Amino acid sequence: MISRLLTLALLAGVGTALPAPGSALQQLLRLPAGSPAEVFGDPPFTPGHRDPYDHKVDSVGEGLEPLPYRNGDGTTVMGPRNKDRERQNPDLVRPPSTDHGTLSNMRWSFADSHIRIEEGGWTRQTTIRELPTSRELAGVNMRLDEGVIRELHWHTEAEWAYVLAGEVRVTALDPDGGSFMDDLAEGDLWYFPAGHPHSLQGLGPNGTEFLLIFDDGHFSEESTFLLTDWMAHTPKAVLAENFRLKPEAFDKIPTSEKYIFKGSKPGSLEHEKPRGFKQSKLRFTHHMHAQDPIRTTGGNVRITDSTNFPISKTVAAAHLEIEPGALREMHWHPNADEWTYFKRGRARVTVFASEGNARTFDYVAGDVGIVPRNMGHFIENLSDEEPLEVLEVFRADKYQDFSLFQWLGETPRRMVAEHIFAGDPEAADAFLKNIEGAEKDPIKDTI
Ligand SMILES: *[C@@H]1O[C@H](CO)[C@@H](O)[C@H](O)[C@H]1NC(C)=O
Ligand SMILES: *[C@@H]1O[C@H](CO)[C@@H](O)[C@H](O)[C@H]1NC(C)=O
Repeated sequence: MISRLLTLALLAGVGTALPAPGSALQQLLRLPAGSPAEVFGDPPFTPGHRDPYDHKVDSVGEGLEPLPYRNGDGTTVMGPRNKDRERQNPDLVRPPSTDHGTLSNMRWSFADSHIRIEEGGWTRQTTIRELPTSRELAGVNMRLDEGVIRELHWHTEAEWAYVLAGEVRVTALDPDGGSFMDDLAEGDLWYFPAGHPHSLQGLGPNGTEFLLIFDDGHFSEESTFLLTDWMAHTPKAVLAENFRLKPEAFDKIPTSEKYIFKGSKPGSLEHEKPRGFKQSKLRFTHHMHAQDPIRTTGGNVRITDSTNFPISKTVAAAHLEIEPGALREMHWHPNADEWTYFKRGRARVTVFASEGNARTFDYVAGDVGIVPRNMGHFIENLSDEEPLEVLEVFRADKYQDFSLFQWLGETPRRMVAEHIFAGDPEAADAFLKNIEGAEKDPIKDTI
């Protein structure tokens, strides 16, 4: 009762144009409370709006213009404004009152990355240069139209990939001379260990688009070892010796790298296998979406790491489908930074960095988020109409997380109550009842 009275007192203290105390109380006691405007009177981002609980506001979905007003403080912006950006970042324009201190930037949109345009395709990257917190992993978003080839190459870093759309053929070679070819579609993965040569080609009808992850934030898509680049920079006399041909045979080879270029449509996998093809013992691809999901109360989770995709020794991932009103619960990852890719929907994430520091970031589809290892965080579905689909990627061989809910549920009740609810036995009882026997529930239905 004490906490309820406190709530009321709080509301009365800060509130203008509130519903009658009884009904306000009622609204607050059920979660989620309607939109903040319903509960707290004036619409969000106006001087009269009051929200001591910092509910999410979907400014994109509701077509709102965020302004820095918070519980009676703040004022308008008089200078120039980039309203599209403000709308995508409502929690930077008006941070929750719980945010504090300075955190490095944890958000980057591929829309802000330079695009390298090539014949029939393009590529853009998010590395430590675009996003300084992207230390452990770098990401590349690439598109290859039908028949278009990302040329035969290799690189210093291992490469993990998630197919975003369309279909793609991959080829690779292992160090024992085993060869590998496969065709992939949306939700499929590949992994090429460091230095392993490979190629990619867009298949019909419209080619493919995918997200590549490299296990070093310093990776650059410009610094790969390309077949044509090497040949262009080798004396023709040596090429002749190496391939047992006359030097003239190489008169017309490319004089510089091809990188991405239009190829012809490939035949079936069987048809394309060269004579003497030796099937690799390694499995370079994996159908992540074909995995049986872990069904949580608020959505589906698929985890792929070296336990079910053995070759992927340096990259682990979780794919999340977050349902209406659901929350990716408060948690942290002990073994690696999280590199998050927002595939669909809009989300709000608060990163807790210890020493009282926390900052809230908002994400839309095509954005990249970072959560450094051990920093507490959640992912909240911000949109009212769009589902939220998220990929969490880690430089690790195993996926690991700690759930705050589970931790407290498996800690002596007295210990928990004395930390959080000393002097409020009623709240302590309600809380302890809720976390009793808690299991990890990565995505929570909040109702
Ligand atoms: C391929 O692209 C064209 C042009 O953008 C589009 O009209 C068509 O629907 C696409 N087909 C498929 C199967 O995606
Ligand atoms: C979250 O995502 C779902 C779709 O999965 C959407 O329908 C729902 O309304 C979204 N928003 C909220 C606030 O839950």
